[in-house]
Amino acid sequence: MNIYENLHSRQTKLSLIGLGYVGLPIALEFAKKISVIGFDINSERIELMKNKKDPSNELDAAEFNNADIEFTSNPDDLKRASFHIIAVPTPIDKNKLPDLKPLISATTTVGKILKKGDYVVYESTVYPGATEEQCIPILEKLSGLTLGKDFKVGYSPERINPGDKLHTITSITKVISGSDSEALQQISKVYQIVVNAGVYEASSIKVAEAAKIIENTQRDVNIALMNELSMIFNKMNINTYEVLKAAGTKWNFLNFSPGLVGGHCIGVDPYYLTYKASELGHVAQIINSGRKVNDGMGAYIATELVKKIIHMGKNVLNSNVLVMGATFKEDVSDIRNSKVADVIKELQSYGINVDVTDPHASSEELKREYGFSLCASLKNNYDAIILAVSHREYLDLDENYFISLSNQRGIIFDIKGVLHGKINKLNYMSL
Ligand SMILES: NC(=O)c1ccc[n+]([C@@H]2O[C@H](COP(=O)([O-])OP(=O)(O)OC[C@H]3O[C@@H](n4cnc5c(N)ncnc54)[C@H](O)[C@@H]3O)[C@@H](O)[C@H]2O)c1
Repeated sequence: MNIYENLHSRQTKLSLIGLGYVGLPIALEFAKKISVIGFDINSERIELMKNKKDPSNELDAAEFNNADIEFTSNPDDLKRASFHIIAVPTPIDKNKLPDLKPLISATTTVGKILKKGDYVVYESTVYPGATEEQCIPILEKLSGLTLGKDFKVGYSPERINPGDKLHTITSITKVISGSDSEALQQISKVYQIVVNAGVYEASSIKVAEAAKIIENTQRDVNIALMNELSMIFNKMNINTYEVLKAAGTKWNFLNFSPGLVGGHCIGVDPYYLTYKASELGHVAQIINSGRKVNDGMGAYIATELVKKIIHMGKNVLNSNVLVMGATFKEDVSDIRNSKVADVIKELQSYGINVDVTDPHASSEELKREYGFSLCASLKNNYDAIILAVSHREYLDLDENYFISLSNQRGIIFDIKGVLHGKINKLNYMSL
């Protein structure tokens, strides 16, 4: 089974199942070098991609140029491919448990068209064991084929970072794993077609799955520690960012800062690990505590602001607050699982009028997802302004800009600490 040679000589194709933030950039990168079929169940998204539009707003139209790629939502087209990469969402449900429905559905699609000699590689983030326990049995059952003898499987986690133009699929070391040594070797060669940074061959599929899940769990726990420290320092009347700057002069102090942890990776992936741990009889105390702290930050921020409004001698009821930034992180349009929505909801529960502005987010999407829209025009009498997301458009704003939007005794809540040292006249607070 020399899949690498067959792909390289274009005797067969590579397919990408799930063309979102992760899948589309990989598909287009491979399509510069080999023949690709891009499959997604969402036909509206497929139509946009056929017209060189990235539905996730990450890639320019130029990225679609000179790409040997066919976009389709017809699963039969996948029969013409032999190397299938699955990059569908792995969210959590309302009970914060892994929701493997998209992964199982994509595996079912591939299982039905799988033929001898094919490869299936998973890129979706999962708990250790998911590929072998959940996916491979479906592939074998639906295809009637046997793993190892007839087809091979691999797992290669994705490490791209939305909005990050520096760390891309070609420039990040790719962790690779395979169901046997031949699979590992072939999958490794295939990824090296596009990954200039090289690959790391993990010893097993489970190790590769675990490596990905702990990358994000480690970030989550460290940010939770920063959030807890910021609550403590707030009570001590010392600025967390000043403390972190001082501590950061030590060679081995880790560079993390407090903030809202939203999106569909860092705030979600740890639940995959804690789920599997508890299935095995282990209650993950540190990881669960970190999740609890981070999930409570929206309410904490709102409560701290309400206290400040009261201390400034203002009325909380019907006060006006502007929230700048609604996406889950800076410089992206993605609003899914944005924790800014928690801040807004909590403020509204106190009877505060909240205006929201964001240069990247879609007002309609916000309305659909969270029930609030972006305000059409900004006022000049806000009691408080929360700089919630550090979009590049906000980084050069000076104090006069915020004064022009504020009434007397205006308050600035600088969640990300980007205005630290710049605000002298307004009442400044940060995490
Ligand atoms: N977004 C990131 O930065 C990032 C980074 C690393 C890893 N990941 C992981 O990568 C995976 C994909 O995430 P994403 O952000 O690209 O998701 P996404 O929501 O942006 O895109 C997923 C795409 O898959 C499609 N899809 C859903 N079910 C399908 C099915 N059964 N068959 C075919 N297509 C289907 C959707 O229509 C959508 O276009 C997740 O496991 C995620 O945790 C994401």
